[in-house]
Amino acid sequence: YSQSQFQSRPEPERPSFGIAFDIDGVILRGRVPVGGSPRALRKLYGTSGTLKAPFLFLTNGGGIPESRRAAELTELLGVNILPSQVVQGHTPFKSLLRRYENELIIALGKGEPALVMSDYGFKKVLSLDEYASYFKNIDPVSQYKLWRTKQALDCSHPKESVPRYDVYSDRVSAAFVVSDPVDWGRDIQVLCDILRSGGFPGQENGHQPPLYFAADDLEYQAAFPSERLGMGAFRIALESIFNRIHHDPLEYVSFGKPNPFVFKNTEAILTQLQPSHCHNDTTNTGNSQSHAFKTLYMIGDNPSVDVKGAQQAGHPWFSILTRTGVFKGKDNHAEFPADLVVDTVEEAVDYILKREG
Ligand code: G3P
Ligand code: MG
Repeated sequence: YSQSQFQSRPEPERPSFGIAFDIDGVILRGRVPVGGSPRALRKLYGTSGTLKAPFLFLTNGGGIPESRRAAELTELLGVNILPSQVVQGHTPFKSLLRRYENELIIALGKGEPALVMSDYGFKKVLSLDEYASYFKNIDPVSQYKLWRTKQALDCSHPKESVPRYDVYSDRVSAAFVVSDPVDWGRDIQVLCDILRSGGFPGQENGHQPPLYFAADDLEYQAAFPSERLGMGAFRIALESIFNRIHHDPLEYVSFGKPNPFVFKNTEAILTQLQPSHCHNDTTNTGNSQSHAFKTLYMIGDNPSVDVKGAQQAGHPWFSILTRTGVFKGKDNHAEFPADLVVDTVEEAVDYILKREG
């Protein structure tokens, strides 16, 4: 195509707004849709399947690759979701690929943390489950645990098999908390071993390898009526203990909302998702021409994460707080007041479509 071919074509009308949906407490509670979310999403499509505005899911959760999450959301919500419409807490870990591509790294958390990292291109990833299994007696209470890890059940890498990498002489270059940890006690123990020894569990003190968290949510809304402890709570537990047993305080970096760069990145993705004619199919990925949004809506349930993030990101973000998750107040949140408070995500979408009408 020549430049002139592009220029000669009349510029189709593009939507001037986009939407970022939080997942836990807005779209789902556990695996159950909440707040009329399937209906709310369907309202974003016109009768001919034309998408009225680009949207994506911006969650601090994770544990499976974006492609799998997109398939899961498609099934649960009945709307076709592309992998590019899923931004998870760990999605920005991709940006560290160059630094750790061929280094031994440890990934932990629920789901398939090592798969997530190898999907991003990291070549030498071990889950903490697998890594710990190569160190006899590293967990002194393992015999009291009635469950068995996937690693222990996996025949291709049975417990006490030959490690895939030379874990006894290869230093752990970094640890990544990809999703909510499952076995806090064991994970804190093994992370302390890795971090205080400089990447060689069981050895003398050494320089702490970098530690990355996908998010820092103290609490989040799952299926249980009251909030559940999140990755931020795990970070506090690890940090408190590490700082008592080690001379230098724990160093770490947390990704996820409310970091302003997450919102900048989301704006960039929404721009790429912004097709000239949005259709509910997989063929239309838009073009790379940038187009400034007048408004980007963040629909979330957690004032100190979703609303704070949108506030810090500033223009063009507009925050909408729902009452289906962490926030359950009657009026607006005192410390991080949203631009709008509604009961459900469906109400939020109705408001947006009317306002943008
Ligand atoms: O573990 C998930 C939780 O930290 C938050 O998820 O979708 O509310 O950002 P979300
Ligand atoms: Mg939430």
